[in-house]
Amino acid sequence: MKILATGKYLPARIVPNSFFEKTLETSDDWIFTRSGIKERRIASDRETATYMATQSALDALAKADLAAGDLGMIIVGTSTSDYVFPSVACQVQAAIGAQQAAAFDLQAACTGFLYSLILANQFLSSGTCRNILVIGVDKLSAIINWHDRSTAVLFGDGAGAAVLQANRGQHCHGRLLAFDLGADGRYEKILFMPNANTAKSNAIDLSHGVSMFMSGQEVFKHAVTAMAQSVQKSLATAGLTLDDIKCVIPHQANLRIVKVLADRLKIPKEKVFTNLERYGNISAACIPVALSEAEQHYQLQPGDKILMVAFGGGLTWASAIMEW
Ligand code: ACO
Repeated sequence: MKILATGKYLPARIVPNSFFEKTLETSDDWIFTRSGIKERRIASDRETATYMATQSALDALAKADLAAGDLGMIIVGTSTSDYVFPSVACQVQAAIGAQQAAAFDLQAACTGFLYSLILANQFLSSGTCRNILVIGVDKLSAIINWHDRSTAVLFGDGAGAAVLQANRGQHCHGRLLAFDLGADGRYEKILFMPNANTAKSNAIDLSHGVSMFMSGQEVFKHAVTAMAQSVQKSLATAGLTLDDIKCVIPHQANLRIVKVLADRLKIPKEKVFTNLERYGNISAACIPVALSEAEQHYQLQPGDKILMVAFGGGLTWASAIMEW
């Protein structure tokens, strides 16, 4: 499998940390020091999850110079779809005119894009599909409790996409060299988003609407441990060390998590790509948006190896090492 091109879409509206100083007991200094975030993008009503996903897909398809009709499958990692059904993937399929493509959403919270990428690789390597569009999109602003300072300041909206193609011939560049997928459903209470019925039957406070809940410190500890172990597993499977890796693209939840992870694994600072200071945590969109920006930042060349690692609600985690 190779990545033909990546694409992204970020809403135009920039919300700086100072915005929250007017509505919550917080400060720009607290938010930046604790998370590394300076600003985030917040979508308008018109910028639905489907709209953002479609724009990122069109960006990636144009760069790949591939017609939507040549796609055999569309997989969208998201936990903020506009409808329970139809899926975002089906709506994107209609919007871009990918009539030959099977389409479905995959829900693994912030790990949704990597789960989708790894699943797509199975269809590509088995010969089932030649071209697959994988998207990570989330509109977290729709599920945030804007009165909860412990979550409201951390999240944003956006979408990223990658056009994947099966390799033909043994010696072409672009391969998924190794991956690791994991989950631990025992920790549902530290990071969850109920639906309205579940919230009612569990007597969850709905005075500020249906929104996500997070025990930040607990999630922090699990995130570091799970991502560090996952990276080590993928490196071992690929028979590589971090010296062989051109850049590491971690989940963009919190700069402190990224720093602890990098310290624990002894990853040189210059190899770790971050953009969370500009976007906050955009959940399933973190990895593809960062991938799209890292491609330019590091001027990735055929043969370069990149390592992606994510963590999210579920709990779920994944890592993947790709040759560009
Ligand atoms: N402004 C000011 N004070 C605040 C704010 C805020 N926005 N939020 C919380 N506080 C307060 C708390 O109430 C607490 O006060 P207290 O000591 O009087 O009780 C104090 O600040 C410290 O709170 P902590 O929770 O200990 O702060 P911490 O240093 O752990 O940082 C944070 C919190 C940023 C949430 C961090 O724990 C974190 O990033 N956790 C991981 C988040 C994550 O990785 N999410 C990924 C998955 S998301 C997904 O899957 C959708």
